[in-house]
Amino acid sequence: MLEQERPIIGFHKQRLLVKPIKINGHGLGKDKRMKVKCMATSIPADNVPDMEKRKLMNLLLLGALALPTGGMLVPYATFFAPPGSGGGSGGTVAKDALGNDVVATEWLKTHAPGTRTLTEGLKGDPTYLVVENDGTLATYGINAVCTHLGCVVPWNTAENKFICPCHGSQYNNQGRVVRGPAPLSLALAHADIDDGKVVFVPWIETDFRTGDAPWWS
Ligand code: FES
Repeated sequence: MLEQERPIIGFHKQRLLVKPIKINGHGLGKDKRMKVKCMATSIPADNVPDMEKRKLMNLLLLGALALPTGGMLVPYATFFAPPGSGGGSGGTVAKDALGNDVVATEWLKTHAPGTRTLTEGLKGDPTYLVVENDGTLATYGINAVCTHLGCVVPWNTAENKFICPCHGSQYNNQGRVVRGPAPLSLALAHADIDDGKVVFVPWIETDFRTGDAPWWS
């Protein structure tokens, strides 16, 4: 059975007196007390910063840390933010494959009725500009970003559908989903003519293909 005595510690000014522990009845020495010099230092009360000063120091420290940390976090967060899917506010002039503004009359000279051609739309999203069968420009553009996992969906003239090469989702010639796994139709944007140029404007009204509220808005 282990027999122990609890150490008795006494403070004498700045010195600690520690009585040795007795183990199994054997002491380390009857009157041999170890003298341990106390290393703790005391701060005079008038040298302790008061609470207001400490709060101020904390605030300054917090501010100094927040500025560089915020500067690093903002670009980090925007990197992971998904590109838009057709929502937002304000119009954007459509750009062709070369980055030029799309001029409606010029476009119609070079794009046959029934064609769907990729342009750069709202928030830089690939967006189909549609030439109707009567040779006029459709008043809507179709966002080409697949609603399944975001592949760009090509137009298939022979099938008269948009068919996603990634997992086989299909959309009709207006971008309404007709086969999964895509859960939703392709987003829409208005295709207006402003000063002769095609301008995409966010579509916030009912989706005319489904009668539902626009999921992208
Ligand atoms: S990303 Fe288009 S079907 Fe999966």
